[in-house]
Amino acid sequence: MQIPAHLLPRDGRFGSGPSLIRQQQLDELLDRGRHVLGTSHRQAPVKQLVAQLRQQLAELFQLPDGYEVLLSNGGSTAFWDAAAFGLIRERAQTAVFGEFGGKFAKAAAAPWLSAPDVREAAPGSVAFLEAAADIDLYATPQNETSTGAIVPVRRVADEDALTMIDATSSAGGVEVDLRECDVYYFAPQKNFGADGGLWVAIVSPKALDRIEEIATSDRYIPEFLRLDTVVTNSRKEQTYNTPAIATISLFESQVRWMNEFGGLSAIAARTRESSHLLYDWAERTDWVTPFVAEPAHRSPVVVTLDLADGVDGKQVSSILRENGVVDIDPYRKLGRNQLRIGTFAAVEPDDVRALIGCLEYVVERL
Ligand SMILES: Cc1ncc(COP(=O)(O)O)c(C=O)c1O
Repeated sequence: MQIPAHLLPRDGRFGSGPSLIRQQQLDELLDRGRHVLGTSHRQAPVKQLVAQLRQQLAELFQLPDGYEVLLSNGGSTAFWDAAAFGLIRERAQTAVFGEFGGKFAKAAAAPWLSAPDVREAAPGSVAFLEAAADIDLYATPQNETSTGAIVPVRRVADEDALTMIDATSSAGGVEVDLRECDVYYFAPQKNFGADGGLWVAIVSPKALDRIEEIATSDRYIPEFLRLDTVVTNSRKEQTYNTPAIATISLFESQVRWMNEFGGLSAIAARTRESSHLLYDWAERTDWVTPFVAEPAHRSPVVVTLDLADGVDGKQVSSILRENGVVDIDPYRKLGRNQLRIGTFAAVEPDDVRALIGCLEYVVERL
């Protein structure tokens, strides 16, 4: 089935990560690539690029006093293990309401720690953290990318413990007050429209103290996952091992664009607009329903829509793919007849309008 050209979005990339990379990011990569790509990450040009990235992130997130921007290699998945080795003292509490929260709960079940206190809720709903005895780190995803459910970032009232947020798919697309947590970590392949493979963690003074406390204890920590080493390297605008310099360039371009766009609140308004177009459309269309029943927990950056029995999501997404509109398939392990649409910072609300037009065109003709 061919969708008429005038109905198609200008850019058909609606993936939930890797996600749309804007042309300006690619143009800047070509321009500055000549100076930084293929050169040493220990020399001034790349260190300056890393410094700019850290400064732009500090501006975007209005870094509270004493907080620092850390970065290293391996994506958020590597950070999970780094946290198990270097941030959990003895026992974590973790909120699990989808695949990614579940993966961190597994990392937090490391043999040198006590079994985590897992607060679980069914996919499509959310679970909350809650102060409890003998917990020294509370961890939750802000946005569960596998289901499209989001929770507010709020510090757990527990003096001695850290609050840690997996912001992989929310950072840069949703507002946050970093004073409400100690560790806000993410990777650049979602709102930041870069490639994966890197992680960033914005950490509070309390988290820096915890890193130091555990690093100087007698716990064995693999060199690659040592957070004290990350602190030292980040302060020198470096990473412990060789980074993907192209990713850092794409990432820096996007954060600079976000700050020029009006900062986090302006970007968050844009993702809200895009996602609401879809949720409102789903509410008034009989063959599609928002998967997350509670409107307050519907993600502004990952929109999950269940399809009626008579509509085959696989068929719809494959027709759209043939027409250049890609990656609207559900999270593979969720196993639902669903569409999952990334409405990250780079996605134009007008392209979301066009996507809705395309979906209607296709389903009416099936
Ligand atoms: C919420 C969340 N956490 C963690 C990850 C893992 O990130 P990475 O692929 O950078 O390891 C993802 C990836 O999609 C994610 O969405």
